This record gives sequence, C-alpha cells and structure tokens, in this order.
Amino acid sequence: MSSIKQLLLGMAAALLFLGSVGITQADEAASAADPVHGGKIAYTCFGCHGITNYRTSYPVNYRVPKIGGQRAAYMVAALAEYRAGARAHATMKAQASSLSTSDVRDIAAYFATAKPLASAGAPIGVAPASAQVCTSCHGQTGIGLTEDYPTLAGQHPDYIEQALKAYRKGSRQNAIMNSFAATLKDDEIRAIAHYFAAQQPSLWVPQAPRAP
Ligand code: HEC
Ligand code: HEC
Repeated sequence: MSSIKQLLLGMAAALLFLGSVGITQADEAASAADPVHGGKIAYTCFGCHGITNYRTSYPVNYRVPKIGGQRAAYMVAALAEYRAGARAHATMKAQASSLSTSDVRDIAAYFATAKPLASAGAPIGVAPASAQVCTSCHGQTGIGLTEDYPTLAGQHPDYIEQALKAYRKGSRQNAIMNSFAATLKDDEIRAIAHYFAAQQPSLWVPQAPRAP
C-alpha cells in the first residue's frame, strides 16, 4: 500500500470515528436533562413560583403550587398538558408553549433535583379514610412513588383542593385522576388536602438565584 493511500485510509477511519462520537454526544444531549441550563432559563417562573404564598386569582383564588422538589417527569407531563389544553390555565399555557421540549426537560430537572425528596418516617396525623386509596401512588407521606406520580407532601392545601375539584369537574383531564376524584365530596377533598399538606419532608417554594 502506498503511503498516500494509507494516509487517506487513516483519515477516513478518523473521520468515521469522529462522526460516531458526534452522534453519540447528540444522542446523550437529547436524553440527558441539563439542570444548570434549566436554572438559567427558569427566571420567568420565579415571578410566581418563587414568591412564598403567592396567589392566583383567576379563575379561582388559590396559592400557586410549590414546585421545588416536585417529580421531574411529572412536571414535564404537566407542562405538556397545559400546552395541549388538558389543564386549563391561560398563563401556564402561555408559559409552557414558549418553551422547547428540551427547555422543559431542563427546567423540570432544575426544580426537581436541587434537593430531592425521599420518603422518611411515619405520616403526620391520620390519613382520612378517603385518602387510603391514594397512597398506593402518592405514598403514605405524599411522596409520589414513581416519577410519574406528583408529590403532594407539603403542597398548599388550597392548591390540592383546587386540583381535585378540577379533576372532579373534568376541567383538568387525566384518565386516572378523573375517576379517583369523581366520587369525592367537598369535605373529603378538604380533609385529604390538609392531610397531605401537613406531611414532611415537604415540597418547597424555590428561591430565585441571586443576580451575579
Ligand atoms: C403568572 C404566574 C406564573 C408563572 C410566571 C409561571 N407559573 Fe407555573 N403555575 C402558575 C399557577 C397559578 C399554576 C397552577 C395552575 C393550575 O391550577 O393548573 C401553575 C402550575 C405549574 C405547574 C404544575 C404544578 C403541579 O403541581 O401540577 C408547573 C410544573 C409549573 N407551573 C411550572 C412553571 C414553569 C416551569 C414556569 C416558568 C417557565 C412557570 N410555571 C411560570 C403560575 C405561574
Ligand atoms: C394509580 C395511581 C394514582 C392514584 C391511586 C391516585 N393518583 Fe393522584 N395522581 C396520579 C397521577 C398520574 C397524577 C398526575 C395526573 C396529571 O397529569 O394531571 C395525579 C395527580 C394528582 C393531583 C394533582 C397534583 C398536582 O400537583 O397538581 C392530586 C391533588 C392528586 N393526584 C390526589 C389524589 C388523591 C386525593 C387520590 C385518592 C383519592 C389520588 N390522587 C389517587 C396518580 C394517582
């Protein structure tokens, strides 16, 4: 083999190698969330989610949900639901629609991973009878058992009430939750909300990073 031919073959092999590295990196970028990037683009979210006890007044007056420590996969699903209209909330629809798929994933990872919650210890208080069935997914202490089940521990009780009433009414659509909420009465919803809101460790109100 001439040395030129060897050189060309070597270059071709090197290019193939580089090409495959490029593809692998692109694949990883598509699957791995980047919480640092998420934090950088999450600044608009703090205007509501970063203010303790901040209330929304439309369509009903209740506190903006705590999203610090919420399950990442659930938050990705929630944002997709706002975008698709399965959850009716004009502001969140606009927020969710302004983000790309990878931005959503990065933001969810940012809010989820700063301080992951783990179920620990005994429940606080006694779960109302109507909440027994809920714990198989949301946990005894309100920590979602999988990434797809939202954590309820320490969530604002008025937000939990609002969510359950929305499922019951059908203005928030989810095959699982619509059926679980359908038969709940107002006083059961209130008791369930207060039980899960009292649990520790708790979701938290994320604090906006300080300006550099
Ligand atoms: C103007 C206020 C406002 C802003 C800004 C805002 N949100 Fe929200 N967000 C809300 C309210 C109110 C709700 C509850 C709506 C409902 O009842 O479905 C909510 C709900 C959510 C939920 C669902 C939480 C749950 O437990 O189901 C997620 C996730 C979320 N927001 C993420 C974000 C992200 C990410 C941003 C920034 C890109 C953002 N929000 C910006 C007000 C806001
Ligand atoms: C089979 C599993 C399962 C069971 C049992 C279950 N849930 Fe859920 N729950 C889910 C899933 C999945 C979601 C997310 C649905 C969505 O995307 O809107 C959810 C969402 C919720 C939410 C909204 C949380 C948020 O942050 O917006 C509340 C509140 C809730 N469930 C309460 C209950 C209560 C109360 C019960 C019992 C009466 C119950 N769930 C039973 C799986 C379950």
